[in-house]
Amino acid sequence: MRLADFELRNNVFVAPMAGVTDRPFRQLCKRLGAGYAVSEMAASDPRLWATEKTSRRTNHDGEMEPKAVQIAGGDPAMLASAARYNVERGAQIIDINMGCPAKKVCNVAAGSALLRDERLVAAILEQVIAAVTVPYGVPVTLKMRTGWDAEQRNALRIARLAESLGVALLTVHGRTRADGFHGAAEYHTIAEVKSCVRIPVIANGDIDSAQKARAVLDETGADGVMIGRAAQGRPWIFREIVQFLQTGTPGAPPTVGELRSILQEHLKDHYAFYGEFIGVRSARKHLGWYVRNLPGGALFRARMNRIDNCAEQLDSVDAYLATLGADSAGVTESTEQERLAA
Ligand SMILES: Cc1cc2nc3c(=O)[nH]c(=O)nc-3n(C[C@H](O)[C@H](O)[C@H](O)COP(=O)(O)O)c2cc1C
Repeated sequence: MRLADFELRNNVFVAPMAGVTDRPFRQLCKRLGAGYAVSEMAASDPRLWATEKTSRRTNHDGEMEPKAVQIAGGDPAMLASAARYNVERGAQIIDINMGCPAKKVCNVAAGSALLRDERLVAAILEQVIAAVTVPYGVPVTLKMRTGWDAEQRNALRIARLAESLGVALLTVHGRTRADGFHGAAEYHTIAEVKSCVRIPVIANGDIDSAQKARAVLDETGADGVMIGRAAQGRPWIFREIVQFLQTGTPGAPPTVGELRSILQEHLKDHYAFYGEFIGVRSARKHLGWYVRNLPGGALFRARMNRIDNCAEQLDSVDAYLATLGADSAGVTESTEQERLAA
């Protein structure tokens, strides 16, 4: 599929998830089939740009193109300069977050809180587009929810506004801000958004299998799907979905042998990116997701929390996987189903 001048490998996207979709994880998802990934949200406040956290979030060294950075904030001029700052550091696409319900974000009138104020939405889009699309040719995309709450579901108006101002692609998470992550995502507003604009629309929310991706594409008519939580500890979901969409047969989950090489690759890249102290600690959550519902996973997780160096963490992963048997089916469909039911 096309996003402005970029020809993407496919229409299955990685959702931006703060604290999860760092560069090593995005890279792994792309290698395992994802067609596109957006960086975690980067602060628009210049006082935060020099912090280690924001500089990591804006580091794209070696990342498969196109490099897309999400920005968040509520001040149009600040967002415009954040967009420019990121473009000057290699971002090829700027995504604006109007989808995040987090208090930290919403209290400062950012994330999905912006959806309540359509004039502010317009000012943000105009200024960010003027800052990067006009001078640098960098497309601006928008990630949004269906509205503030059930009474103010204004996704269609925002979508039309975004298209008229020059936004290149819209991602819609099928929930209002008030829904948080509760209830089931509703896809019919996404279908309405899709039918009211000509720019590509990506459907997001609760897509956790190849079959669900197919069903959501059919129901919404969207141009692509975006996967968030279901990719945690399961980056191969992208190849499962892509293969299913292309052939009607889902790609196979990895054997234990392949899981071992995926984990080794992920951990080594993660340590190189964060360094030992932060790397070992922040890898624990990924490891917990990988082994959730694998035999002995809970014990392994408990052991992992006491390890504080890279070499020992890598060895323990190997030792744990060896207990599962390298040729066994590993992450089988039933372990996946149990996991998603959990
Ligand atoms: C841990 C976590 C962090 C998230 N961080 C962001 C973010 O930084 N920017 C954003 O636009 N959405 C963020 N989201 C929302 C996701 O991108 C996505 O819209 C949402 O999880 C619904 O998709 P899913 O059901 O496939 O998970 C986050 C979600 C989670 C679970």
